[in-house]
Amino acid sequence: MEEFLVDDKWKDVITRDVTRMSFSELDWEKRDNFRTGISWHIPTESLVELIKCYSPVVSVGAGLAYTESIALEKGADIIATDISPDSLNKWCRGDYRMLVERKESVEAVKSYNDRNVFIAWPPYDNPMAFETAKAMEVGRVLIYVGESGGGCTGDGDFFNYLYENFEEIEISAAIPSWSGIYDNVYVYKKIKD
Ligand SMILES: C[S@@+](CC[C@H](N)C(=O)[O-])C[C@H]1O[C@@H](n2cnc3c(N)ncnc32)[C@H](O)[C@@H]1O
Repeated sequence: MEEFLVDDKWKDVITRDVTRMSFSELDWEKRDNFRTGISWHIPTESLVELIKCYSPVVSVGAGLAYTESIALEKGADIIATDISPDSLNKWCRGDYRMLVERKESVEAVKSYNDRNVFIAWPPYDNPMAFETAKAMEVGRVLIYVGESGGGCTGDGDFFNYLYENFEEIEISAAIPSWSGIYDNVYVYKKIKD
């Protein structure tokens, strides 16, 4: 298993709990502290390499931009954006890891239409991911981190739109999941509007 890219204070928690198959109240608490305090997904070397490979990239709904900041340090050309890069953000309440521009996702995609798009953990049952995919130009690539259709990220319109207008690119990047969560890394190329 490749190394998880987490701050030192979380290393112990992640390596012990992320592969555990059963829940306890404690797991939920640690997981939620991690998600709101650093990142909703657990970055790996292969995810960061993927972002580098598809640079230049604009990240939408970046939250605290933890993965984005690691990718930036490792040489990716990446801009992070979020609708609420401030203390009012109800999903993310830690330290911002790099500059996060205040931009709604459609505005971000349109302002940076010469970039591929990174979207991780778009809010559940919310049109944000669908509208982001719709705003992308044909030929651009979407790196998506989250659950598959019917899971707890994005909405049905997003997955239907991906199915109709994008083609999946096979990749070898992977991330771990918290127990009970089934997130993964997917790459799609937009082939029609
Ligand atoms: C669950 S968090 C995920 C944050 C980060 N991508 C991660 O994986 O840790 C969802 C983020 O999407 C942002 N967001 C929600 N609606 C948005 C929109 N319409 N445009 C841009 N960002 C949005 C929220 O402010 C929040 O930071």
